[in-house]
Amino acid sequence: MTDVGIDAIEVWVSNLKLDLPKTFAPENGEDPEKYTKGLGLFASSFPDSYEDIVTMAANASYRLMERNGLEPADIGRIDVATETAFDKSKPVSTYVAGCLEQVYGKSLTNANKGERKFACISGTQSLNDAYNWIASGRNRGRGALVIATDTALYERGDAGEATQGAGAVAMFIDEDPDIVTLSKEQGIGSADETDFLKPNQQFPSVDGHRSMQVYLARMREALEDYKAAAGDIHPDDIVYGPFHTPFPGMVKKAAVLAYRNVIRDTEVADELEAEVGRQPEPEDFTDQEDYLAALREYTDSLRDTERYQRWYKERIRPTLTISREVGNWYTGSVHVARTSALLDGYDRDRDLVGSQMIVGSYGSGAQAEIHAETIQPNWKRAIGRLDIQEQLDSRYDLSFAEYELIHDNHNLDLETDVEPLTTPDDEFVFAGWGPMGERKYQFVA
Ligand code: HMG
Repeated sequence: MTDVGIDAIEVWVSNLKLDLPKTFAPENGEDPEKYTKGLGLFASSFPDSYEDIVTMAANASYRLMERNGLEPADIGRIDVATETAFDKSKPVSTYVAGCLEQVYGKSLTNANKGERKFACISGTQSLNDAYNWIASGRNRGRGALVIATDTALYERGDAGEATQGAGAVAMFIDEDPDIVTLSKEQGIGSADETDFLKPNQQFPSVDGHRSMQVYLARMREALEDYKAAAGDIHPDDIVYGPFHTPFPGMVKKAAVLAYRNVIRDTEVADELEAEVGRQPEPEDFTDQEDYLAALREYTDSLRDTERYQRWYKERIRPTLTISREVGNWYTGSVHVARTSALLDGYDRDRDLVGSQMIVGSYGSGAQAEIHAETIQPNWKRAIGRLDIQEQLDSRYDLSFAEYELIHDNHNLDLETDVEPLTTPDDEFVFAGWGPMGERKYQFVA
């Protein structure tokens, strides 16, 4: 079978920024370190009043096409993953196609379009759909444009408010890709959960602390399922491990559990035994509580070892660099983590061709998916085209009062008219409403 994977990536960071330690923490009477050290977050990205999930998706897609010399005729499929759509029938991908047709003056009539929903994991599900479409040979030589776009807002005052964010990631999926190929093997962990949901409402109902336990449980199931399909994983064979990142502190918790899982019965566990003891096994305990306490103690000791700290610093921490500055982008979050990892490799001029990443996606409700990605010979050329740091640096820094206005402006239940705080430049903007309540977009050169 031909190798299939990600040929190009583009990230669109929305134009506003809320500084968490400087602006958000004091207004909430919180210690800034709760955000920077506890959650691992420094800022959230927000859309200006002329931005929304369509403009962010269209802007990421247009830049992806321009930088990679793609034409509408190269695209046989446009899939948008979002959990913040504003229409229950018309998919965002049709709006995005309309935007692209405006600037290219060429049609995307024969591109199959859709929209995927399963909380944050639908970005990866769309990636897998594109993989399957190409691997099945139905693509007729064309690639798929997969876009993850969200304006991830929580109700004002909700504990999740600190983890908000907005942005889009566009990916071109193709045969013989430049960046990574995807493994055939994948692992799934899924359960009917109600820790985070939006029953016909914009802002989520969340049981925040339980949602973290559900994330960890589904990830463990997906990891076991992946190992059943692909064989054991050695932690030192993974060059980076991008996870879904609602906030970096979540990944910190997940990473040590994943490490504990994959070192079981390996020479790594043997070598660490003198320092941290033997990993507790359920059959050694008559009482479940005793077993869990011993496991917690072992995990804490493992986390403190120099070997684990080095592994985390090299292979997991670099996946969090962008996320710390933008917050949770829901469907885009794991794809931001992958991009962050590859940028780390690029900045350090690492030779990563043939190296493997293990990618852990997650969506509330709940499902985790794990697959492997192998880095391809042209990855540096593709990653070198990104300008994420410039986008982060050029965001408008919101005051708290401006943040309140912008939050209200993106609240679908309120009708507020907010003057833009930035000036659009070479990008699609929301340009008002049509007669059937549809949204209109135009490109501002
Ligand atoms: P909270 O309850 O306000 O925060 O909200 P906390 O009191 O638990 O503190 C957070 C961490 O900061 C803790 O660390 C504190 O100890 C630490 P931990 O004990 O967990 O390691 N802390 C401090 N550290 C240093 N200095 C200080 C300080 N103060 C506290 N002064 C919560 C946290 C995550 C619950 C909230 O932000 C929330 O509800 N978020 C939304 C839900 C969420 O993100 N869940 C994650 C898993 S589910 C998921 O990823 C899916 C999702 O993306 C949606 C989808 O799939 O569609 C959300």
